[in-house]
Amino acid sequence: MSEKVYPVLTSAKKNALIDNDTYLSWYKQSIKDPEKFWAKHGKRIDWFKPFTKVKNTSFEGKVAIKWFEDGVTNVSYNCIDRHLKKRGDQVAIIWEGDNPYLDKKITYNELYEQVCRLANVLKKHGVKKGDRVTIYMPMIPEASYAMLACARIGAIHSVVFGGFSPDALAGRIVDCESTFVITADEGLRGGKPIPLKDNTDKAIDIAARHHVLVKNVLVVRRTGGKTGWATKRDLWYHEEIAAVKPECKPEKMKAEDPLFILYTSGSTGKPKGVLHTTGGYLVYVSMTHQYVFDYHDGDIYWCTADVGWVTGHSYIVYGPLANGATTLMFEGVPNYPSVSRFWEVIDKHKVNIFYTAPTAIRALMSAGNDPVTKTSRKSLRILGSVGEPINPEAWEWYYQVVGDKRCPVVDTWWQTETGGILITPLPGATALKPGSATRPFFGVQPQLVDNEGDVLEGPADGNLCITDSWPGQMRTVYGDHKRFIETYFSAYKGKYFTGDGCRRDKDGYYWITGRVDDVLNVSGHRMGTAEVESALVSHDTVSEAAVVGYPHDMKGQGIYCYVTLMAGLDGNDELRKDLVAHVRKEIGPIATPDKIQFSPGLPKTRSGKIMRRILRKIAEDDFGSLGDTSTLADPAVVDDLIANRQNKK
Ligand code: PRX
Repeated sequence: MSEKVYPVLTSAKKNALIDNDTYLSWYKQSIKDPEKFWAKHGKRIDWFKPFTKVKNTSFEGKVAIKWFEDGVTNVSYNCIDRHLKKRGDQVAIIWEGDNPYLDKKITYNELYEQVCRLANVLKKHGVKKGDRVTIYMPMIPEASYAMLACARIGAIHSVVFGGFSPDALAGRIVDCESTFVITADEGLRGGKPIPLKDNTDKAIDIAARHHVLVKNVLVVRRTGGKTGWATKRDLWYHEEIAAVKPECKPEKMKAEDPLFILYTSGSTGKPKGVLHTTGGYLVYVSMTHQYVFDYHDGDIYWCTADVGWVTGHSYIVYGPLANGATTLMFEGVPNYPSVSRFWEVIDKHKVNIFYTAPTAIRALMSAGNDPVTKTSRKSLRILGSVGEPINPEAWEWYYQVVGDKRCPVVDTWWQTETGGILITPLPGATALKPGSATRPFFGVQPQLVDNEGDVLEGPADGNLCITDSWPGQMRTVYGDHKRFIETYFSAYKGKYFTGDGCRRDKDGYYWITGRVDDVLNVSGHRMGTAEVESALVSHDTVSEAAVVGYPHDMKGQGIYCYVTLMAGLDGNDELRKDLVAHVRKEIGPIATPDKIQFSPGLPKTRSGKIMRRILRKIAEDDFGSLGDTSTLADPAVVDDLIANRQNKK
């Protein structure tokens, strides 16, 4: 780990919203008297009826988390209407197409009209407060209109990443019993079409077999590509919005009314519907967006995430728009038409704040400096990173080459469950250490514990917990509160367990070391080993499968699969290809296995539990230190696994 320290840049201190003294004093207040602190900051959004209660949260027993509970507001109102007087003509969204000659600017006035129209379309087709709407969209402005239109009428959106398969989409439609889907004919990424409507049609058929009937599909015409059409069910977006009024009153929402569900992977079972609510979420994402990125009026802000992930929800749509910001939305990929694309877009739109993922940084770093240095990037002021640990080499390249040593790098640690950023530098306040997410945001109390749950003080390495609630925290697993308690609050009593390992250094800086559970992080995409395993065993030839992660230069982690075939079958390259295609079909391309090892047996204890520790070591090609294998039912299995390993260095 690099221990290099970069003091706060003088240029970043100038005009910074938060300097180090302010950070220290606000942080102290936020921990000493959270009620008072959040009562003040809760007012950063507009309330139709002000809250009188601030914090009512418990991590014990049934676990109940309520913030600003008697306040009434609306997220869409806060992201649009309240800005209209001052900045109706200001650009809210800059859209940059996959094709570099295609872009669009949407002002707050235009955003208002588009969102109101779409809200009226939803209402016209019977969508009501509390109903679930699935959004399966490419990165086009209509994706944000759809989210905001749901928020406007109090419908709960569930955005499903456009790279997920029909099966994965169906699972998410069924789980929340969503009867309305918004999609596009096709998406476009790197010049290649993605058949979103066809996938939706397949997903709807699968959902119907599980007795969830989708009543309507609203389809944006993005490419004009051919799609199937169910006359009564399917509706063209452009026709529908033309036929309704351009005004729609925002629904009065209680602070704890649900805003959205977002499915994410855990160490067991199918993906969980993480539920976020209205008031606390918006307060937290708008506040973190402003302070973490030192957002000033007029700044052009670009987060390269997809709206299908929480980063897109909180830091493309809700946080920036609640702050009246100009947020850039990018349809394409970093290497199309060339590996200079990111930097060209920065120059084209004069981007000041740029927020991306280590996997993209590593991939672009491998293309060398020229594609970067041939662009100006003079507008850049702040760089951000999110999604996985950033290795110090990538951090240095980002800082030195992309940012020309002028731009602080904010390495932001958080999760789908946390709603917003929890551990992060603040540009004008925090000295940086490459590879460290540094210090907690206001109101966030991290704690390291060992496997027995004993609290570790001072410099230490342990499991990362958070001991008290913050307003952006998830409230429950949709439809399964018991699973919420079991997953997050039962490993260490009275604490939220993040699933991450972490080191704290002598300066109190936090260094996230990665997941300590069976969750993989592949190119910043989160995936449960159990999901990949269940996709594998659903193939006719597979009797058993165990999946582990291994360090991968580009992706952070690669997917290594141990597969036991049905009796009498032998593995070969053709079957490998078949299995890879099968997993891609079941989950989506993000789950593409990197290595498949056919293994007649898996290392199991006498009680039948697979010893993943051994599988991880073999996948890492580090089997000199396998530890004790004497408890295995059949220790000979290990020799075969080593002999046939697929990752020989
Ligand atoms: O392991 C941590 C890693 O990503 C996980 C959360 O994934 P997800 O819910 O998909 O949200 C990603 C975007 C917020 C965490 O448990 N992670 C996220 N950010 C960082 C990180 N690991 C290290 N450093 C980060 N900055």
